[in-house]
Amino acid sequence: MEEKLNRLREARAEAALGGGVARIEKQKAKGKLTARERIELLLDEGSFRELDTFATGGREGDGVLMGDGVVTGYGTIDGRIVYVFSQDFTVYGGSLGLGHANKIVKVMDLAMKNGAPIIGLNDSGGARIQEGVVSLAGYADIFLKNVLASGVVPQISCILGPCAGGAVYSPAMTDFVFMTEGSSYMFVTGPEVVRSVTNEEVSSEELGGASTHNSKSGVAHFSGASEEHVLYLVRKLVAFLPSNNLDGSPKLTTEDDPLRSDSKLDTIIPDNPNKPYDMVEIIQSVVDQGDFMQVHEHFAGNIVVGFARMNGQTVGVVANQPQVLAGVLDIDSSTKAARFVRFCDCFNIPILTFVDVPGFLPGVNQEHGGIIRHGAKLLFAYAEATVPKVTLITRKAYGGAYDVMSSKHLRGDINLAWPGAEIAVMGPEGAINILHRKELLDSEDPEGLRSKLVEDYREKFANPYVAASWGYLDDIIEPSESRPRIINALEMLRNKRDTNPPKKHGNIPL
Ligand code: HXC
Repeated sequence: MEEKLNRLREARAEAALGGGVARIEKQKAKGKLTARERIELLLDEGSFRELDTFATGGREGDGVLMGDGVVTGYGTIDGRIVYVFSQDFTVYGGSLGLGHANKIVKVMDLAMKNGAPIIGLNDSGGARIQEGVVSLAGYADIFLKNVLASGVVPQISCILGPCAGGAVYSPAMTDFVFMTEGSSYMFVTGPEVVRSVTNEEVSSEELGGASTHNSKSGVAHFSGASEEHVLYLVRKLVAFLPSNNLDGSPKLTTEDDPLRSDSKLDTIIPDNPNKPYDMVEIIQSVVDQGDFMQVHEHFAGNIVVGFARMNGQTVGVVANQPQVLAGVLDIDSSTKAARFVRFCDCFNIPILTFVDVPGFLPGVNQEHGGIIRHGAKLLFAYAEATVPKVTLITRKAYGGAYDVMSSKHLRGDINLAWPGAEIAVMGPEGAINILHRKELLDSEDPEGLRSKLVEDYREKFANPYVAASWGYLDDIIEPSESRPRIINALEMLRNKRDTNPPKKHGNIPL
C-alpha cells in the first residue's frame, strides 16, 4: 500500500508542476500567478477540490502532461459553492486541446446540474495548434455549453494573460468579463496579423488591453490593477448574485436603517435644469451603506449600471448620468443597459431605475450606426423583464427615452418622481420652436416672448403632475425619503409573479 500511496503522491506533485519549474519561473517573471495560486486566492481558504488532476485526454507518451493545461474543480466563495477552471499557461501556453476542453465542459455540466456559478480563469494562446481540428471541436463544445448555461447559472470570465483566437469567444458569451491591467489581452487576431492584413501598427495593449476593452469596445466589464485585485472583485460580485435562475440572491443583514432619510437629496438637483449633477451620489445615498458596485464603469458613462443592496437584498441599478453627455441615450449606453437589464431578469434580481434623460442623442453617426436598432434593445429588455421594477424620475424624462426607462407602460411596478421632474414629449426649448415659430419671428421682443413661453410650457407640461393624474406615476415623493420609499416598494413586490406569453424565445433586435 505504501508504494501505491507514494505513486499517488508523486503523480499529484508532478501534475501540480504543470509545464515544469522553468516555465513557472517564466510566468512569475511576467508578474503573473500560476493557475493554482489564482484559484487559492479566488476561493475560501482550503475549500478547493480539484477534479481530473490526472486527465490527459486519454493520451500517453512524450509531451503529454497530466491535467492537460487546465485546473478544474469546485470550492466556495463566502461559503457558497462555485465551479472553477483555471488555464495553466505553463502547459503549451494554456492552449486548448480536446482533453483540456473536455475538462472544462465537465465542470460546466456540474455547475449547471447543481445550480452554481461557473468562473473561468483564462490565460491561453487559443486552439492548440498540434491538435488541429480536434481543438476547434473542443472550443465549439465549450461555446455550446456557454449558450446552454446562459440564464441558468451566472458565468464569469477573468482574462489573466494573452487570450487569442478561440480563447476570446467563450468569455464573450459569459455574463461578466474581468481583465487585469497591463498583463491581459483579448483579440481575435493579434498585432502581427493586423499588420500583415491591414498595414495598421498597433500594440497588444492598444489593440486588446484592459483599458481598450473596458472603455472602447465594451467587451470587458471590470478591470483590476493586479490579479489579486481582479480575484477580489470577482468575490465581491459573486456575493451579490443568486447561484442560479431558480434561486434568490443572498440576503445580508445590514446596519443601514431602512427608514433612513437624507435631507441632502432635497437640494441635490441644481436650479438650472441644464446643469449636471452626479447621479452616483444619489444612488450611493439611497442604497445600503453607499455600497454600489458599478458594472461597465468605464464604458458609455452616460448610463450607470451595477449592483447594490436595499435592506440587505440585491438590486440591479440602472441610471442615466447627467454628468456625461447630459445623460442621453445613445448606441453604447442602450446596449450596455439592455444587457444588464436582461442579466437581472434572468436571475430574479429586481431592477431599480433612476431617470434623468433628455432623450436619444441626435446625429448622423448615431443614426447611421443604428441607434434605432440599438435603442430598441433597451426598450425590448425593459418590456420583457418580469422581475420587480421600481423607477424614480429625479429630473428629466423626455420623449421616447421616457417610455424606455422602465416606464409604467413597460410594466414598471412602482413609478415615483421627485417634485421637480419634467415629463413631456420634448424639452421646452425644442417644443417652443416648433409650436410658436411664427409668433417668435413676428415678435418685437422674441427673447422676452420665448422665456414666457418656456415658463408656460414648463408649468403646463414639464412637471410630474400630468403623468401622476393619468396614473403613470404612482406617487410624487420628497427626495429625502427616497430610500424608505424604494425599500417599501421592493418589499411589497417581493412575491411578484409575472410572465410573458409562451414562446421559443423573443427576437430582440441585435
Ligand atoms: C500550442 C502554443 C500555442 C498554441 C502558445 N503556445 N500558443 N502551443 N498552441 N496556440 C506555446 C508556445 O509554443 C510556447 O511553448 C508556450 O506556449 C508559451 O508561448 P510563448 O509564445 O513563448 O509566450 P508569449 O511570448 O507570452 O506569447 C503568448 C502568445 C503567443 C501571445 C499567446 O504564444 C501566441 O501568439 N500564440 C499563438 C496564438 C494563436 O494564434 N492561437 C491560435 C488562434 S486560432 P514553449 O514550449 O516554448 O513553452 C484559434 C481558433 C479557434 O484559436 C477558433 C474558434 C472559434
